[in-house]
Amino acid sequence: MSDPLATLQREHLQILERDYAEVLTSLGYDGVLIYSGHPALHFGDDQHASFSSYGHFQHWIGQAGLAHSWLLIRPGQRPICYFHAPDDFWHLPPHLPEQAWTEHFEVLTGRYDAPPKLGTGRFAVIGNVSETTASALGVQCNPPALLAALDEGRVRKSEFETTCLSESNRMAMLGHRAAREAFLAGGSELDIHLAYLQASRQRESELPYGNIVGIGGHAAVLHYQHYDTATPHKRYSLLVDAGHRYRGYCADITRTWPGPDAEPTFTALVERMHQIKQRLIAAVAPGVDFVELHERMHHLLGELLVESELVTVSAESAVQSGITRAFCPHGLGHLLGVQVHDVAGRTARDGTPLPPPPEHPALRLTRELETGMAVTIEPGLYVIPMLLEPLESSPTGQHLNWALIERLAPHGGIRTEDNVSVTAHAARNLTADIE
Ligand code: GLY
Ligand code: MN
Ligand code: MN
Repeated sequence: MSDPLATLQREHLQILERDYAEVLTSLGYDGVLIYSGHPALHFGDDQHASFSSYGHFQHWIGQAGLAHSWLLIRPGQRPICYFHAPDDFWHLPPHLPEQAWTEHFEVLTGRYDAPPKLGTGRFAVIGNVSETTASALGVQCNPPALLAALDEGRVRKSEFETTCLSESNRMAMLGHRAAREAFLAGGSELDIHLAYLQASRQRESELPYGNIVGIGGHAAVLHYQHYDTATPHKRYSLLVDAGHRYRGYCADITRTWPGPDAEPTFTALVERMHQIKQRLIAAVAPGVDFVELHERMHHLLGELLVESELVTVSAESAVQSGITRAFCPHGLGHLLGVQVHDVAGRTARDGTPLPPPPEHPALRLTRELETGMAVTIEPGLYVIPMLLEPLESSPTGQHLNWALIERLAPHGGIRTEDNVSVTAHAARNLTADIE
């Protein structure tokens, strides 16, 4: 097989077989049927929403766009893929890719709108399956203990998975480079979005998440979802948070660029945010508590606010009084995999829930870093009026430089986000920079 990833994928499948056998045996199952899912129809319409297959389905075979398909995993037996490819003259049926998993699985190609029949034994079905379907099969539907154990099996990536993440990063960076060029050439948000898609060779429905393309003040909207078709008169800044999917694995990368009308202070802040990100990445290692790393980001943001004269208190006091949280309300990062916000970020390895600290409710990763994890590191600093305005009328308000905040507001904000693999001793940055 010509696929250079074939050996790594075979090893990945062996690890999955071993892990699934352990989990299924310990919970008393003879097997699990994993449903890919299928796209939802718009209500009262014959048109579908865009679709991405279930994470545990992708964990075995990638194939983010494959619907109505099933995997049957039974300890000690060859896994089966029921590959939905019906005869159809309206659509082109999916074809089997040349990938190592197609030899590892017994692949049964056909029509699988209905689940395959199971033999005797104790089975579970997981995925977007109704209780009615599960009880017709005589199996348990999405049992929580099984899901929790399988989620935990997604946390430490195999070499195959890290290689796929690296490739999705490489493709995404082609898009980021084109996005910056489109912005500097005077493009609108829509032009920039289209340039990104073209250079990264993907259609919009295949993105791991909707591209965030914000010029100026729109960069302050954390998940800004529109694409203006006109270029604004003044171009202060561009924030692009956009990824790619390779064999199911998601890149999640953000870059912020000063525009031709940027304030020098903003340009300096962009450079300093890049340095803060590098320092945080350098601190990534097994055993590091991600909540503490997130708190470290706030201390670095506090220092940045002091040095850029945005606050007149100490860095420590900017953190304690909540000023840094008003400038950055999101978490430092999250687990990354076949879902952009990957599973099990808030559960310890032994299953204990790890809710985020009350003052950091948006933090999606609250566990200790381990070798093999893939995480994002994404510090940010924004002028978000609905978060800063309440400070203005509070005692804290006197310590903020409102004139400078007003000058920065049309730039929206800054986020810089890389994807990092935790190796035995340190971090491996999967996001190569563009210059
Ligand atoms: N793109 C969403 C995030 O950075 O988490
Ligand atoms: Mn992210
Ligand atoms: Mn992102």
